[in-house]
Amino acid sequence: MKLSHRLEQINRMVTDHYDHIWDCCCDHGFLGATLLQRGAADTVHFVDVVPSLTEALEVQLARFLPDFLKGRDWQVHCMDVSTLTLPESPGRQLIIIAGVGGDLTLEMVQAITLSHPNRELEFMLCPVRQHYLLRQGLIHLGYGLVDEALVCENKRFYEAIHVSSGSNQVISPVGDQMWDLSRALDREYITRTIAHYERMGRNADQEAEQILGYYRGLLAM
Ligand SMILES: C[S@@+](CC[C@H](N)C(=O)[O-])C[C@H]1O[C@@H](n2cnc3c(N)ncnc32)[C@H](O)[C@@H]1O
Repeated sequence: MKLSHRLEQINRMVTDHYDHIWDCCCDHGFLGATLLQRGAADTVHFVDVVPSLTEALEVQLARFLPDFLKGRDWQVHCMDVSTLTLPESPGRQLIIIAGVGGDLTLEMVQAITLSHPNRELEFMLCPVRQHYLLRQGLIHLGYGLVDEALVCENKRFYEAIHVSSGSNQVISPVGDQMWDLSRALDREYITRTIAHYERMGRNADQEAEQILGYYRGLLAM
């Protein structure tokens, strides 16, 4: 299955084997199907809130994937990701949320965290915009970094952020290990982000001023 550049990056960042992987906001399920195909988890769950999407996906998976599905399990769930209940399992589970806004992504992470107290949780997140807001929220919730990467697709930038409640590695509000400032793309993303916060700062937005300081600091490194 040919994945988009962004989904392929997320796929590459799933390096361990999991008992359960949750492809949340799965839409047509391309990412989950790829993970299922390469046996990244015992069970891959496809979650979306739109019934017509999940019904079509169920039919597609049953029709086109049976050959290599022997011994592998998949389930399709039509539900709001915020109401997800993870099965009790001694093994690891990975919750992937990609392709929705950073504010909605954070709301989902907050809801799942709240409904699973005392459980180690691991998320792979790749929001559309509002990366700073999401990172602040993750820091506030006590998550630690596992891995992060910058992705550019169709002239739009995305941050793929893998976090775990079991990691002690501090999450930077503007990213840390994902930067390679010798690459023109990385510098372009920072420059564009600075321009965005400069526009907000002109409206006397104090938080924008603080965020600007962080991004300008990256370029000064
Ligand atoms: C643009 S698609 C993202 C597809 C894929 N994850 C990606 O990154 O390319 C966004 C999907 O999120 C789903 N969605 C939005 N809010 C949701 C929610 N609260 N619970 C479950 N799915 C949701 C939509 O139905 C839609 O299929």
